[in-house]
Amino acid sequence: MVENRRLAVIMVGLPARRKTFLSLKLQRYFEWQGYRIRIFNVGGYRRDISGFKSSTSDFFDPRARAFAQERERIAKQCFSDLAVWLRAEGDIAIYDATNVTSARREYLISECLRNGFDYIFVENICDDPEILEKIVSSKVNTSADYKDKKAAWAKKDFWERIRHYESVYETVGEGLPNIRLFNFGERISKNFDPGHSLYCEIAELLESVNLNGKNIYITRHGETFFNLEDRIGGDSPLTEKGVDFAKKLNSHFTGRDLIIFTSNKRRAVETASFFDCEKVCLEELNEINSGICDSMTYDEIAERYPAIHDSRKTDKFHFRYPQGESYRDLIQRLKKAILRIESQRKDVLVIAHRAVNRCLFSYFIPFPQGDIPYIEMPLNKIIRIHSKDARYAFEELSI
Ligand code: F6P
Repeated sequence: MVENRRLAVIMVGLPARRKTFLSLKLQRYFEWQGYRIRIFNVGGYRRDISGFKSSTSDFFDPRARAFAQERERIAKQCFSDLAVWLRAEGDIAIYDATNVTSARREYLISECLRNGFDYIFVENICDDPEILEKIVSSKVNTSADYKDKKAAWAKKDFWERIRHYESVYETVGEGLPNIRLFNFGERISKNFDPGHSLYCEIAELLESVNLNGKNIYITRHGETFFNLEDRIGGDSPLTEKGVDFAKKLNSHFTGRDLIIFTSNKRRAVETASFFDCEKVCLEELNEINSGICDSMTYDEIAERYPAIHDSRKTDKFHFRYPQGESYRDLIQRLKKAILRIESQRKDVLVIAHRAVNRCLFSYFIPFPQGDIPYIEMPLNKIIRIHSKDARYAFEELSI
């Protein structure tokens, strides 16, 4: 296993290859795990430094020497800020720019070596005209470069910009650590030291994400006999009220094309039992392991193990039950479930547990770590999470 040093993730790709989308996905995945990670976007620097003149395709013509030099200066300024931040306070920095020439990449490598950073190139290659057409159309609607411009004119200009970059494009050399994505999920190639755990995690996430917008529904199992007594953990079956909820849940989703993920606990499996769609039991969705406190009530814990009760109150996120888990551990365990959810192309329903759902929810909707164990997650509530580009929005549904 290689010891992780500060890491620069260097995006590579022509315009319209969703580099920023992928950067945001990486940022969320690692931030959720507690890494200090930040994106440095050269496009943003360009707009701030060069302003309006840099918004049209002429600015990207490699034959226009003065503009080419200006773009190089801006890119270097951005990377220099990245290096300052990464040295002082970061774990991972993402350098979000086209970086399509070997000369630019050699410069970046020399800067990484000088600063003692690890680095990996993430190259996104897309030659599917249908995907590109969609991206270009949506990009000209949302990009600050084309604000106040007519869509048809903006599209033509943006394609011109792409052609300028194509004229100088050199793919990343085999000898460099890299991950290459082809047509968003069609294929991925990996070329790095497999002992570097962060490189592996980056590749796993990139392998899972796709461009399909989908709904992710999260709910807890129906009421159990343990819930009635306020007992934690265990493997209790549903009460009559719990079965009622399971039936209602099924009717709510009638006719929808779904995949359901449940934990392998009886209460979650029973809640999914009325559905006849694809169902997958994932052990990693099991409730937080409360170790020596399993099957006790909170009052019993306070009486028998006052130190546990107090420590949980002091720092619930980091507190680990003796012979059990903490919320922090749970997030590590749930990485696999997040990858499974990300990789789906259709809507997903997760039927799991209170602590698990809090942690899953906090991946999609960011919360400070200390607040995660207190997110409201009552029984009989469904949360619908839907993607808004690389970010998410949510609503609560009652059934
Ligand atoms: O009480 C239901 C339950 O899912 C328990 O099994 C679990 O230990 C608990 O909730 C998690 O919530 P908290 O971390 O607030 O105790």
